[in-house]
Amino acid sequence: MTERGGVLIELKKLRKVYDHRGGELEVLAGMDLTICRGDMVAIMGSSGAGKSTLLQILGTLDTPTSGSYLFEGKEVFSGPASALAKFRNEQIGFVFQFHHLLPEFTALENVMMPGLIGRMKRQDAEERGVELLKMVGLGDRLKHQPGELSGGEQQRVAIARALFMRPRLLLADEPTGNLDLKTSSGIHDILRDLNERMGITILVVTHDPRLAEQMSVQLLVDDGHIIPYHQGDERARGRVSEEMLHKAPLSVRPFMSEDISSARERSEE
Ligand SMILES: Nc1ncnc2c1ncn2[C@@H]1O[C@H](COP(=O)(O)OP(=O)(O)OP(=O)(O)O)[C@@H](O)[C@H]1O
Ligand SMILES: [Mg+2]
Repeated sequence: MTERGGVLIELKKLRKVYDHRGGELEVLAGMDLTICRGDMVAIMGSSGAGKSTLLQILGTLDTPTSGSYLFEGKEVFSGPASALAKFRNEQIGFVFQFHHLLPEFTALENVMMPGLIGRMKRQDAEERGVELLKMVGLGDRLKHQPGELSGGEQQRVAIARALFMRPRLLLADEPTGNLDLKTSSGIHDILRDLNERMGITILVVTHDPRLAEQMSVQLLVDDGHIIPYHQGDERARGRVSEEMLHKAPLSVRPFMSEDISSARERSEE
């Protein structure tokens, strides 16, 4: 059980600049962001806005150009590479848009993999793997290989695997990007349940405002910064900087469900 409230993550003036064909591309432009323990955050933003870049840095799969990333008050990128690997393995669970499961292994073996890599006893790893697969509703698919599972089932295996090491933070980059709405909504239900019951802090990148609306905080990556998805949204207070709280987005936002339902009504007139 994770303690709720209190700051888990602080990004200060975080910049990410890609060198590209002799030029520079600034994707994160001095971003400030605070994530509290137990937060369930939806991250939206147009294609190319920098959502994946942000998640990769939070997951320490990539490094920022400058700025600070504090996790429980400690600078993440200040230590040696070995400390970073340990931090990533112990504190972070990552779920990608495409599950990245190993095709030649069963669902159970895929989930156990972080334990086996971490030299955990096989029997202990197996017990935990079974427990996690049951939790995501796949207790009767333990021996299936990824190719023998549906897209939603594969993504649930990926979530179970991401939880194996009991991470403090679960990062999901469009985990339902290639699934239909009903299956997506089932995956989001699992994430919400993990957040509510176990207090795991979760950040999900999604393009679907209907799913985002079910989360406690909704943020937008816009012009290299983080702003509230709804301008002035009080739920974003303390997460985004004061200066950004009332900022209007420069980019075109993904559609809101109000927009979608009013468009539907009009198209039916
Ligand atoms: N290694 C790289 N070198 C140069 N430019 C890059 C690199 N990786 C990403 N970019 C650029 O950085 C920008 C942000 O990319 P990112 O993948 O973070 O976007 P995103 O918000 O996740 O978009 P999407 O919704 O399409 O997944 C894009 O314009 C992309 O072209
Ligand atoms: Mg992306």
